[in-house]
Amino acid sequence: MRKFKIDLFSDTNTNPSQEMRQAMCQAEVGNEVAGEDPTVNKLLERVAALLGKEAAVFLPSGTMCNGIAYRVHCQRAGDLVILDETAHSLNKAAGLISGLVQAQPYPISGKKGVFSAKQIEPIISKSIGYNLARARVVSVEQTTNFGGGAIWPLQTLDAVCELAHKYQVYTHMDGARLLNAVAETGVSAARYSQAFDSVWVDFSKCLGAPIGAVLAGSKNFIDEAWYYKFQQGGGLHKAGILAAACLYGLEHNIQKLPEIHQMTKQLAVLLSELPFIELNPNEVQTNIIIFQVKHLQLSACDFEKQLGEKGIRVLAFDQRKIRMITHLDITFADIQSVFSAIREIGEEN
Ligand SMILES: Cc1ncc(COP(=O)(O)O)c(C=O)c1O
Repeated sequence: MRKFKIDLFSDTNTNPSQEMRQAMCQAEVGNEVAGEDPTVNKLLERVAALLGKEAAVFLPSGTMCNGIAYRVHCQRAGDLVILDETAHSLNKAAGLISGLVQAQPYPISGKKGVFSAKQIEPIISKSIGYNLARARVVSVEQTTNFGGGAIWPLQTLDAVCELAHKYQVYTHMDGARLLNAVAETGVSAARYSQAFDSVWVDFSKCLGAPIGAVLAGSKNFIDEAWYYKFQQGGGLHKAGILAAACLYGLEHNIQKLPEIHQMTKQLAVLLSELPFIELNPNEVQTNIIIFQVKHLQLSACDFEKQLGEKGIRVLAFDQRKIRMITHLDITFADIQSVFSAIREIGEEN
């Protein structure tokens, strides 16, 4: 039984629908590690086309996509991975970059997780010389997670990639929520990914699958990625059962994203009217809300705890900030309940 009636902790906290489970039951399967699983192959073809890339590989998680992509791009231990200071792969992946990739993260202070070409030019242009760690990858999150679901503008992405490539630095897009950006702006996933050497999309977030991500890039890049997939125990055997859920998500759930964004924005507007909350609803672009608690008696952790007691799960990620992520299992009625619960807690204390 679920502990929380309404779970806004993450968009990974969706329950695969009966129809998705049905599609999984009926999946044709084969040996994925030999390239013989027809359902995985169908998914890879679809995603490579969606992202405008030559080839793709199926992986169990987004974290593995980031780790393998960085590993392929970084050839020497100590190479630099340049990314925003809020990036998931820096903060929430158990030391992935130094521990597994053997590279060094170089965090940038962006705005809502978005940085500019100008901010990274000094690092990239100076990391040349035998006694200096070499910039090897620039990594962006589209959309930004701990930046509050912000969408990188196309011009900023293009400028960052142009600069990186000028200095022979690779570019990587963490597309955990790329499809949210696509749903919001109408810019295609292929256009957003165009200048990137590697890019991935996640199926266990906005598309409601139980597991699965696809990493894409050039044929050479994917050939190399396979080496590290094996090394990290990512050979998946009869993975068609999982790929069927991802295909179901692509075919049936993408169209639900605009409504999910609409309800997120509705909640942001409601919350912004509460005197003990600091939030600019105009800055909420997709399915993530981050707000500051400025209540005299209660911290963000107090709100998280008291909301939990009312069956609503959110994430307090410091003394003042709360993150909420909406998804396929959230309804407009849930939005009203969350708002009422937060108002009640704030007014009763
Ligand atoms: C932006 C971003 N990148 C990567 C990940 C990691 O994905 P996974 O949980 O599939 O490993 C997440 C997970 O929330 C994320 O939000």
